[in-house]
Amino acid sequence: MKNYTSINDIDDINSWIEEAKKIKANPLANKELGQHKTLGLLFFNSSLRTRLSTQKAALNLGMDPIVMNVSGDAWGIEFGDGTVMNGNTAEHIKEAAAVVSQYCDVIAVRAFPSLTDKEKDESEQVLNSFVKFASVPIVSMESATGHPLQGLTDAITIAENSNKKKPKVVLSWAPHIKALPHAVGNSFVQAMQKMDVEFVIANPEGYDLNPKITKDTPIYHNQSAAFKDADFVYTKNWSSYKDYGKVLEVDDNWTITKEKIGNAKFMHCLPVRRNVVVEDAVLDGENSLVIEQANNRTFAAQLVLKKILEDL
Ligand code: CP
Repeated sequence: MKNYTSINDIDDINSWIEEAKKIKANPLANKELGQHKTLGLLFFNSSLRTRLSTQKAALNLGMDPIVMNVSGDAWGIEFGDGTVMNGNTAEHIKEAAAVVSQYCDVIAVRAFPSLTDKEKDESEQVLNSFVKFASVPIVSMESATGHPLQGLTDAITIAENSNKKKPKVVLSWAPHIKALPHAVGNSFVQAMQKMDVEFVIANPEGYDLNPKITKDTPIYHNQSAAFKDADFVYTKNWSSYKDYGKVLEVDDNWTITKEKIGNAKFMHCLPVRRNVVVEDAVLDGENSLVIEQANNRTFAAQLVLKKILEDL
């Protein structure tokens, strides 16, 4: 595999899940594979799980990770072609990506959307510029429209925790105080569409995700109808896609409660705002998978890096 920038880069999700489980059972089995190889992690935005789990994955493979907070510490990067750079940006992505490629064998990038310009966000300018101008493989650590390491993690976690041939999985929107990206929701939808699950989405009117992503996945605007017989409830907030980046008024209470989800397993990518998105009783209850989900971030990243290293 050259790059991992989307769930669409997964050819056979079931075989990937099986390989990830093997990695989890013996994380140091390939500790020679990445020797003398450097992974550069470039963060345009904050992170806890992605930053640590991707480094841990690299270390398990014998790689040397190096990390940079690009927005705070690097020169301001210009992405426009032909721009007269007499403003705040001091370095063009053409040089920046090429230079980082001299130091790194693989580059991982996190760059969130603006949520103000749909067309620009959907062009994935930052991620695609690294793909275009770097000479080494690129891994998305969450871009404007996708979080494929999280989506792969979530697929692994559902496979590990399901005792049914075809479990029912619900992706439910939940409230938040800020406008959040669609990336986690998008990648989760794409991952579930590749798995043998009964998958539905629940969100208020006005919050439907990009129809090019949801395709024919059923969308409920009634949360309790969607939750009927659910085995897994995956919760995430996202801002409106139609009224792009806006937080809309919602009449019903969409916060996840123990009463609403019954015996379903609860999932969230974290970080999560307690008692806004989900009540304490769910997060602290025995059906919460959120910590195991976070643990699986390491093995999803390790699987992706392993596949890239094998093809270097
Ligand atoms: N789930 C996730 O990507 O967490 P971080 O933003 O902390 O990396």
